[in-house]
Amino acid sequence: SITRHYRFDIVMKNVTRLCTTKSIVSVNGKFPGPRIIAREGDRVVVKVVNHVKNNISIHWHGVRQLQSGWADGPAYITQCPIQTGQSYVYNFTITGQRGTLWWHAHLSWLRATVYGPIIILPMRNTSYPFAKPYKEVPIIFGEWFNADPEAVISQALQTGAGSNNSEAYTINGMPGPLYNCSSKDTYKLKVKPGKTYLLRLINAALNDELYFSIANHTVTVVNADAVYVKPFETSVLLITPGQTTNVLLKTKPYFPNATFLMEARPYSTAAAGTFDNTTTAGILEYKRPSKSPISIKNLPLLKPTLPMINDTSYFANFTQRFRSLANSQFPANVPQTVDKRFFFTVGLGTNPCPKNQTCQGPNGTKFSASVNNISFTLPTVSLLQVHFNGQSNGVYTTDFPTQPAFPFNYTGNPPNITNVSNGTKLVVLPFNTTVELVLQGTSIQGAESHPLHLHGFNFFVVGQGFGNYNSSTDPANFNLVDPVERNTVAVPANGWAAIRFLADNPGVWFMHCHIEIHLSWGLRMAWLVLDGKLPNQKLPPPPPDLPKC
Ligand code: C2O
Repeated sequence: SITRHYRFDIVMKNVTRLCTTKSIVSVNGKFPGPRIIAREGDRVVVKVVNHVKNNISIHWHGVRQLQSGWADGPAYITQCPIQTGQSYVYNFTITGQRGTLWWHAHLSWLRATVYGPIIILPMRNTSYPFAKPYKEVPIIFGEWFNADPEAVISQALQTGAGSNNSEAYTINGMPGPLYNCSSKDTYKLKVKPGKTYLLRLINAALNDELYFSIANHTVTVVNADAVYVKPFETSVLLITPGQTTNVLLKTKPYFPNATFLMEARPYSTAAAGTFDNTTTAGILEYKRPSKSPISIKNLPLLKPTLPMINDTSYFANFTQRFRSLANSQFPANVPQTVDKRFFFTVGLGTNPCPKNQTCQGPNGTKFSASVNNISFTLPTVSLLQVHFNGQSNGVYTTDFPTQPAFPFNYTGNPPNITNVSNGTKLVVLPFNTTVELVLQGTSIQGAESHPLHLHGFNFFVVGQGFGNYNSSTDPANFNLVDPVERNTVAVPANGWAAIRFLADNPGVWFMHCHIEIHLSWGLRMAWLVLDGKLPNQKLPPPPPDLPKC
């Protein structure tokens, strides 16, 4: 293994999409940002230099960060933001992961424009558990806002509701031909017949789970969140914000007499109008030999068929199909026993409107979101740092509830009392605790699916279901043999998901909904994993250039 050095200069860049030019926060003037490429086992060192007015921090989404918690990146959780004119070196090793992850800004809504792929290749002299693809192609879905995303979120937080919709979805930064002024801004994947392409799909959109499909083609899913899965074929994929999926696309063995659209648009059970319901498209084009009598221009363009926007049974069937390889080379180390059990409700709610504000939530309230009725308040210092320095007094408490304050019919008619309380509460886990966590979606203010992302760990999704979780009957059906291992799981709308993980990584680890508006409303909390006894089980001291608040 080797060390790979990168430099990220955070700079403003003028970008035009949908006939609107605006200045965006970018890495190295690129949109989407540059690729990080490494092999499993490599060390990655990224020097981030902030040249813009905004404070920033970068998160390496899905990277395990074993004993490198200072490099995880969420602002006010593991570090203070990198201020204007400052820099910070992120230094971490990629351990036991292979596939696709991604990086993004982790402060406010800066990730709308500050994101890019992390490509993790197998170790040298090892191969994929499938035939070597002819080419590898990252395909990253995003969202484009005509306004400044920072203004969009600050307005949304001021008014409680407000409009937080983007104007377009994008494929590799491009909206594609179904939007105004955008045919020039269309992602094109040019392929040859009879070849296998590895598509590395990343959902970097802020607020939407997305379907994705390529007209007249099926793909084979081989990897999710940088873990191999048992291969399965599908013509439509569903990817939540935060998730990555590697698929093999086998092109037709001949030159087809058509060109094919690839499309992505939301899966959602949220009320119409509360999100951007448009379609981004790219083009899959078979390169013709120069002497071909038929020119590409004259070929018909075929469209894929995507499920209905709220096709929850598609969601359930598709997510069920993911299974770990669970073989001798790639075992699934599912915790078979549990030290600590937790039951968290995840969902939306309302709070009274603060005196000096006007709120547009239901009955003049302010929207909020919570875990076990606690809407997590970000501190103004770094949780990891105050923990390490023994200065946590007055910053956080360690009484995050293991159960909801009062049980109710979570997926039925919501009760009247839906106010949540605010706080910065953590769960403390001794080193090497095995955790089982049931995430129960609620129907308060509308049942929506919540893609929960855990920093610092992969977890196994041992169970999933609709309705209220039943602790006496549901565990009997848990899959402890080959459950999918990932870092982001969609808790189904009106349903639940059960995950297990081993708390073998000391530090403070954020867990939150990866739908950015829900995260901003407070659907977030943090775990504090204590040091183990052995020297290699401890969080090392912070690097000298760790930013100050
Ligand atoms: Cu991809 Cu805390 O996020």
